[in-house]
Amino acid sequence: MKKWIRMGLAAWLLASSLVQAQSLGGTAPDVGAGKKRAAACFACHNADGISKIPGTPHLAGQERGYLENALRAYRDGQTRQNATMNAMAKPLSDRDIANIAAYYSLQTRMNDGKTGAQAMETIERIRPVGIAVAEATAIAAESAPGAASAAAVRSGEAVYSAACMACHASGAAGAPKLGDKAAWSPRLGQGAATLVQHALKGFKGMPAKGGCSTCSDAEVKSAVEYLMTKSK
Ligand code: HEC
Ligand code: HEC
Repeated sequence: MKKWIRMGLAAWLLASSLVQAQSLGGTAPDVGAGKKRAAACFACHNADGISKIPGTPHLAGQERGYLENALRAYRDGQTRQNATMNAMAKPLSDRDIANIAAYYSLQTRMNDGKTGAQAMETIERIRPVGIAVAEATAIAAESAPGAASAAAVRSGEAVYSAACMACHASGAAGAPKLGDKAAWSPRLGQGAATLVQHALKGFKGMPAKGGCSTCSDAEVKSAVEYLMTKSK
């Protein structure tokens, strides 16, 4: 039974994706990518779209078109003005907006307690994993000589991908981009210890631990080292 519900959902998403595809030049929204990109939003809107902060609206189960329009309105900085949301929406591409809107619109609980997005992720899993593995292999090949040998702790690169990339790959909210030597050089000058402290405790637009409550201090430290090594 549950399987049928999911397949029905997949069919529905596919159908609505096809309509959407026309405005995106032929590509359907990618819910998994939407979730990744939305990591920067979780601090306030939560992963499930149910905000616990007063004044921060719930995004769960909102119409996809509504969410897209809201994000475009924040991005242009005129139609909808809110300092936080204008800054958060500014770096988003049309693809990002479509993916994030698809992700949050699917945050409605189904009979088995899973959200629509979780069901879609299972369906989509094969492709994103293939890409992630290819990327990870390429990066590992580049950085193998300096690799740290910590046991039972996620590598700096793994933590970066899970918790830091949302902002540090795109420069969201003004984050210095991975590999951007000019942006990192004055920061590197502060020394590793200070950078680690800033990453752990938060620093201006940089949330404490990048908002990753499940990251240990050691993991955040290795993610900082990863960012530093890649940005020298
Ligand atoms: C620092 C907290 C914070 C972060 C981070 C944040 N938001 Fe928001 N968001 C808000 C607040 C506060 C509002 C209400 C703003 C207003 O009054 O217009 C809002 C409003 C919205 C709305 C409009 C909802 C509605 O009902 O009209 C959308 C959509 C949205 N945010 C999406 C996002 C996305 C996507 C991200 C990540 C790229 C994000 N937000 C990051 C705090 C945040
Ligand atoms: C929500 C977006 C966001 C996430 C997620 C995020 N960062 Fe940042 N980070 C920022 C911003 C914005 C800055 C720049 C702050 C400033 O100098 O104004 C920054 C700056 C930094 C700096 C430089 C601090 C300094 O003193 O110059 C380090 C180091 C850093 N981040 C590490 C991390 C690590 C490690 C993670 C993941 C565990 C992470 N960040 C996740 C937004 C983010």
